[in-house]
Amino acid sequence: MPKRPYVIDEMISAKAIAARIEALCREITKEFAGTDKLVVVGLLRGSFVFIADLVRELDLPIEVDFLEASSYGDTMESSREVRILKDLRGAIEGRDVLVVEDIVDTGHTLNHVIGLLKSRHPARLKSIALLDKPSRREAEIRADWIGFEIPDEFVVGYGIDFAQRNRNLPFIGKVRFTG
Ligand code: IMP
Repeated sequence: MPKRPYVIDEMISAKAIAARIEALCREITKEFAGTDKLVVVGLLRGSFVFIADLVRELDLPIEVDFLEASSYGDTMESSREVRILKDLRGAIEGRDVLVVEDIVDTGHTLNHVIGLLKSRHPARLKSIALLDKPSRREAEIRADWIGFEIPDEFVVGYGIDFAQRNRNLPFIGKVRFTG
């Protein structure tokens, strides 16, 4: 639970998110047209709302799998050292894979996950992030598709938490401390 009082200022509305996902999914559907072996991999827990909306806009036969990597814990700082807490259920060798991340911040998480999945020899490996904070980048990585570039603000909502709270907001908001 967060220790200081704060309010949340809306940054990206639910409507804007839905419109962006529709546009991105048209591109992704084109990219993977003809495949019958696409696995959409959601990174837990922050991508659970995004992946739910994303897969329903994809006009492709897909499977869904999940992977959980360690992240911030209850702090606002990236741990840098990434550990896999829950691995995929299925094998991805020879499959097309789309990794779905909520935010790319320092980039260590996505970099680690992409490296791990590459070592399993998928046919094609692409990634999408709803949000990108390029000014915070430490690892050299960029998702193939990005929903929105945002400044260096701590955000919540649409699956994304602050110390496990606020994941259920339908929009993306920024945290502003009041005390
Ligand atoms: P990275 O490894 O620094 O790129 O961090 C990626 C993970 O940190 C994301 O998947 C989020 O879980 C978390 N994260 C990064 N920025 C924020 C934020 O502004 N709010 C909440 N979580 C964040």
